[in-house]
Amino acid sequence: MPKNKKDQFKDHGMIWPMGIPVSQSWHEIGAILSIVHEYNIGGFVELGIEHGGLSALLIARGMANKEFKYVGFELQFDKIDNRTLEVANKNIRATIYSGDVFSNAAIRVVKKLIVFKRNVLVFCDNGNKPKEFQIYSGIIKPGDLLLVHDYPREFNEENSDFNLLDRIELDYLKDTRLVLFQRRKNE
Ligand SMILES: C[S@@+](CC[C@H](N)C(=O)[O-])C[C@H]1O[C@@H](n2cnc3c(N)ncnc32)[C@H](O)[C@@H]1O
Repeated sequence: MPKNKKDQFKDHGMIWPMGIPVSQSWHEIGAILSIVHEYNIGGFVELGIEHGGLSALLIARGMANKEFKYVGFELQFDKIDNRTLEVANKNIRATIYSGDVFSNAAIRVVKKLIVFKRNVLVFCDNGNKPKEFQIYSGIIKPGDLLLVHDYPREFNEENSDFNLLDRIELDYLKDTRLVLFQRRKNE
C-alpha cells in the first residue's frame, strides 16, 4: 500500500530508489546528489554501506560519468545486498571493501583516492560519526568535502570540534540530518 503522506520525503529508512533499502530520507538522497553535482565531486567515499541502496545509486552515477569514482566500506559485509555487489563488480569505477573504516588499510585506500581524484567527498555514516569526523577531517585535502549523517542526534557540537573544518550551511540541508564541511583551501 503506498504511504502517500504529506511529510513522506522527510521520513528515514526504507527508501528504495534502486530497489535496495537506503537509511536516508528522500530529502537526504536529494541533498547528497545535489552536493555531488554542484561541487563536481570526482571521488565519493561512503563509510558504512549497510544494505547498499545508496551505493547502488552512486555506482550508477559512476557508470554514466567517467570522472566519478565510488568507494565504500562495510564492517558487516553480509549486510550488503547482492545486487549492489554485482553492480560494483561490473564497474571499474566502484570498489566495495569489507573492513573497519578506522583500520590503517581503509585509511590508506582513502588517502590514495584523495591524491588521484579532484574534489573528494567523504560521507561519515558508520557507528561512530564523531570519530570518523575527527580522523577523516585530517585526511581530506583542501577543497574536499566531509558530510556527516545523524546531526544532531549522534554527531553534534558537544561531541565534535566543528572548527576542524569550514561548515557549509546550505538551505536544503535544513530539511535533513546532514551536516556539510569543507577543508579550507588555504591550508
Ligand atoms: C547507518 S548504516 C549505513 C547506511 C548507508 N550509508 C545508507 O545510506 O543506506 C551504518 C553501517 O555502518 C557499519 N559500520 C559500523 N561501524 C563500522 C566500522 N567501524 N567500519 C565499517 N563499517 C561500520 C554498520 O555495520 C552499518 O551497516
